[in-house]
Amino acid sequence: MSQYPIIRHRRLRYNPIIRDMVRETVLAKDDLIYPLFVVPGSNVKNPVKSMPGVFQMSIDNIVEECKEVRDLGIPAIILFGIPEHKDEKGSEAYDPEGIIQRAVRAIKTEVKDLVVITDVCMCEYTSHGHCGLLQGEEILNDETVELLAKEALTHAQAGADMIAPSDMMDGRVAAIRKILDDNGFNKIPIMSYAAKYASGFYGPFRDAAESTPAFGDRRSHQMDIGNINEAIREVEEDIKEGADIVMVKPAGPYLDVIREVKQRFGMPTAAYQVSGEYSMIKAAGANGWIDEERVMVEAAFAIKRAGADMFLTYFAKDLAKWIDKTNK
Ligand code: PBG
Repeated sequence: MSQYPIIRHRRLRYNPIIRDMVRETVLAKDDLIYPLFVVPGSNVKNPVKSMPGVFQMSIDNIVEECKEVRDLGIPAIILFGIPEHKDEKGSEAYDPEGIIQRAVRAIKTEVKDLVVITDVCMCEYTSHGHCGLLQGEEILNDETVELLAKEALTHAQAGADMIAPSDMMDGRVAAIRKILDDNGFNKIPIMSYAAKYASGFYGPFRDAAESTPAFGDRRSHQMDIGNINEAIREVEEDIKEGADIVMVKPAGPYLDVIREVKQRFGMPTAAYQVSGEYSMIKAAGANGWIDEERVMVEAAFAIKRAGADMFLTYFAKDLAKWIDKTNK
């Protein structure tokens, strides 16, 4: 008899109720942040071709969408804006009457109990599609940081609950913290895109946000795909500069980075399941090559298991519905 195993891992796997009792990771609606794309006009709802289920919406439709998101129990959205006019300096990014500033005001007046986070970057607003001011083909760091700080301030003045700089310029968290504090917004948290990689997984987003660079790429400011020590240094710096939540982006292909950041700093840690991660699951699902719902849930569990406290995902509404369904 003694040749049979005493330890039987399967004992806890036969009964589905016991399986649930011993599950180590949970998915909760509190984990979810839903990205939305705002465009000028009214009654606009343009499907984004490379992201089935994702739309560019005008402010009126965004407000309705926000009500639905809140009613599903999702706590927060993050807003990306497509401006009326783009120019060299990305002027609409820091215009108090810009698309994001108007959208935030509308949402905050019409939708209660929803956290509105704004993405702070220049790439959607510049005619050249780069994340900052250019001199020739070089993105100027310090001059860009000043504009990002102005942009963040106008978002806070419009009523944003949290500011999320995604540009990857050096020193921007400190500059944003200072301008917010100097203007009476010391209670507004900063969620920094702290370790953001120069990733091919952002492709579909650039269709949604109309922010493909006119030349070159983003490798002079986003991180090299081979590096993890550098990610730690980036995160450490952002924490020193005043970041309240640190983000790793993309999520699925960088689970090791999420794990390392969470273990090392013990900070509230976010991850961004980006457009390419979403579109791959959608495309394979639509072809019948994978079970879309199952893979969506599995990818979400992976991000949580790695150590993320919350994640930004285009699947937020579907995941909220899945959570409702499985909790019944
Ligand atoms: C920059 C920004 C990007 C994403 C979020 N913020 C694009 C980029 O850096 O090129 C990508 C998100 C996604 O792919 O879903 N404003």
